[in-house]
Amino acid sequence: MNLIFLGPPGVGKGTHAVRLAEELGIPQISTGDMLRAAMKAGTPLGVEARGYVDNGELVPDDIIIRMVKERLEQPDSQKGFIFDGFPRTVAQAEALEAFTRIDKVLDLEAADEVILRRLTGRRVCADCGSTFHTSVIGDLTVCPKCGGTLIQRKDDQPETIQHRLDVYHQQTEPLIAHYLKRGVLVKTDGGGGVDENYQGVKQALGLA
Ligand code: AP5
Repeated sequence: MNLIFLGPPGVGKGTHAVRLAEELGIPQISTGDMLRAAMKAGTPLGVEARGYVDNGELVPDDIIIRMVKERLEQPDSQKGFIFDGFPRTVAQAEALEAFTRIDKVLDLEAADEVILRRLTGRRVCADCGSTFHTSVIGDLTVCPKCGGTLIQRKDDQPETIQHRLDVYHQQTEPLIAHYLKRGVLVKTDGGGGVDENYQGVKQALGLA
């Protein structure tokens, strides 16, 4: 099954995509994670991407399309995949159509106030990449899964979150109409509790 998870920053694309990918035995492909890994490793791609990512701007389409095309050449994606945070522009969606088939696009939705609350409380493990929320883990600084250090993403500062939301509404939201026209769009609520929303994800995709 070739899936896309679409939705604003912090709606839960990563949280639900990781869980479902594990259940289905297919890779979760997050362009955000790939860019952060390149930034951490200091590769030429990472150096180029840093300014965009830290400021909540989209990385140019040609860089992202090249990166995704290379990723899809790896054998694990032959049995299916979940794209998390890609495509983010109509140009990226059109480029993708030239090199793979998409079965379903899941649009997760939540109000901007919910997003702001979630992202300011998000903590990420610098070692294993797991995501937590201060409403659950309090002021813990050590990862409960691997013992690594929990950090706050640079783009999770309130003013950058607001900018990312504006960028989402202007540049990514048009994809909803794009995929509706292609007859592959399904929607579910991303504004509730994690387990409740995950059930909605599976129902929307016909997997529950
Ligand atoms: P990326 O890493 O993709 O960030 P994003 O889309 O802004 O998404 P997030 O990771 O912030 O949120 P999410 O929806 O995955 O939510 P999560 O599950 O973590 O991109 C970062 C940057 O990279 C972009 O700004 C851009 O610069 C660049 N980039 C990436 N892809 C690109 C592309 N295709 N083109 C151009 N540039 C690109 O959940 C959030 C928090 O909420 C967690 O703490 C979670 O525990 C908590 N939570 C509470 N309740 C729930 C619930 N019900 N469901 C899920 N999580 C919940």
